[in-house]
Amino acid sequence: MRELEERILHEGSVRPGEILLVDGFINQCIDVDLMEKMGQVWKNYFADQKITKVMTVEASGIAIAALAAKELGVTAVFAKKTETQKIHDDRYQAQVYSYTKQKEYTIAVSKRLIKPDDVVLLVDDFLANGCAMLGLCEIVEGAGAKVAGIGIAIEKNFQKGGAMLRDKGYDVCSLARIDKLSPEEIVFGKADA
Ligand code: G4P
Repeated sequence: MRELEERILHEGSVRPGEILLVDGFINQCIDVDLMEKMGQVWKNYFADQKITKVMTVEASGIAIAALAAKELGVTAVFAKKTETQKIHDDRYQAQVYSYTKQKEYTIAVSKRLIKPDDVVLLVDDFLANGCAMLGLCEIVEGAGAKVAGIGIAIEKNFQKGGAMLRDKGYDVCSLARIDKLSPEEIVFGKADA
């Protein structure tokens, strides 16, 4: 998605540890128009799927999921993050390890919010190691529902998440794919849409 790549080039900044800051339009300040356009791109890309729900993990994914859901005419659901691993009968949950933050946490969704006939589009702002999206796949499939695909705003191609999810057969549509990230330059690979 050319517009997203341009915004990253002009407004993004790179921090040590290959971290891209996009606070000005995705993370802290939400550019609703841009997110609506992202939703339209995913709507077209996944047009052959009868998507019934959009899902993400709190917190940064929520705005992206909400705007994508609006474009698709469905509702958005987000998994909550908790420290506890205690099993609750009324929720689906999965363990997620964050390499960036070096800690494990639990993501959970109430069983009321996902049904076996749901066809779910998963979305997130960044795809790095892919553990968060894998945890969501586990939750959706654990509910007997179908993962329609995975829509990502910014994929870090040099980390293993994208390859891992595609190898497992998930259709990942990343709107910007970054091959190289340094304070001197940001190099994009070919985006999926
Ligand atoms: P994963 O999300 O692909 O599983 O990878 P990882 O565990 O390494 O990422 C941990 C967190 O760091 C995620 O946010 C992810 O979105 C974020 N992240 C990874 N790379 C970057 C980056 O280059 N820039 C920014 N801004 N964030 C990055 P999270 O823990 O889910 O937090 P939240 O912001 O959604 O609350």
